[in-house]
Amino acid sequence: MGFRRSAAVIVMLATSAPVAVALSAPQTQAESNAATSAPASATSAPASASSTAAPSSTENASKAAEAALAQLQSVKTRPGDAKAGQAKAAACGACHGMDGNSTDPQYPKLAGQNEQYIVSQLMRFKSGTRQNAIMQGMASTLAPQDMHDVGAYFAAQKRLPGVADEKLASDGEKLYRDGDASRGIPACMACHGPDGAGNPGWRVPNIGGQHADYVQTQLKAWHDGASWGSDTHAKIMPAIAQHLTEQDISAVSSYVEGLHAAPETKATTRPNAID
Ligand code: HEC
Ligand code: HEC
Repeated sequence: MGFRRSAAVIVMLATSAPVAVALSAPQTQAESNAATSAPASATSAPASASSTAAPSSTENASKAAEAALAQLQSVKTRPGDAKAGQAKAAACGACHGMDGNSTDPQYPKLAGQNEQYIVSQLMRFKSGTRQNAIMQGMASTLAPQDMHDVGAYFAAQKRLPGVADEKLASDGEKLYRDGDASRGIPACMACHGPDGAGNPGWRVPNIGGQHADYVQTQLKAWHDGASWGSDTHAKIMPAIAQHLTEQDISAVSSYVEGLHAAPETKATTRPNAID
């Protein structure tokens, strides 16, 4: 896994102007030669959208968070060690499940999530670019190498499948697979894959089988203006979620929960929805 990949993905925005979003692999993957082109080092961050307006205190706070994030990203690490990670993950089990299969749907499943994505989110929580009080506290005790180890541990666990609500899943499937170009919504599948497995090299999360409640919460928050930072990567989902209606969000979230890995790529549906 020591190589890097990048790709450009077209995201249709409301203006109907296609915006190319570059998804680049994190430098931490290329351990020994990271120095050659680290994309997120504090001194050479390519796209710090500097605003000309007088900085407010919230702007200063977010600048401090971005700087803390760049600092974490610049630390050299080895690929995660799942064995070492297991011990460090003991503190996570109460909410996420010991094997990463949380039972309470407000806590995301971490089982089968890719290491790169887990590391990227732990760094965001710790730095405060992704704001969540509980997770900021949990991540504050972890050094970058711990994040890789814990990430490797959860990545190696098998994600238990979820079940979609049949009433919602067919609308959700359409959106997931085709998007809706007339409304500027790209197909989720283009980045998250047909079975929702995501893409480790691009830090695209595995969302297949994820709790619909959790997925819905994130999509709603993005729709309402939340963001996980100011880098290009963090702008992808808010730009998409902006175009989703509440109905779209519940439909696609339910479909996502029913998605699971190949060979079967269709969502499992539950004939009698309970809610
Ligand atoms: C007290 C409950 C609790 C504990 C303990 C906890 N978490 Fe979390 N975790 C959460 C919540 C709540 C969220 C969702 C935050 C949000 O909505 O942004 C979350 C989100 C995450 C995410 C983001 C997942 C995603 O799909 O984006 C990661 C990664 C994570 N936690 C890792 C950990 C690790 C590693 C530990 C142990 C060191 C841990 N968590 C301990 C409650 C907890
Ligand atoms: C252009 C690529 C792209 C497309 C298209 C896309 N996503 Fe994403 N998605 C991402 C990336 C990258 C992330 C991680 C964001 C980050 O780290 O800032 C993400 C994160 C998410 C998450 C958070 C998962 C978690 O564990 O917290 C959800 C939910 C999600 N996407 C759902 C969707 C849905 C639903 C669609 C279709 C309506 C969609 N995505 C379309 C790239 C994409």
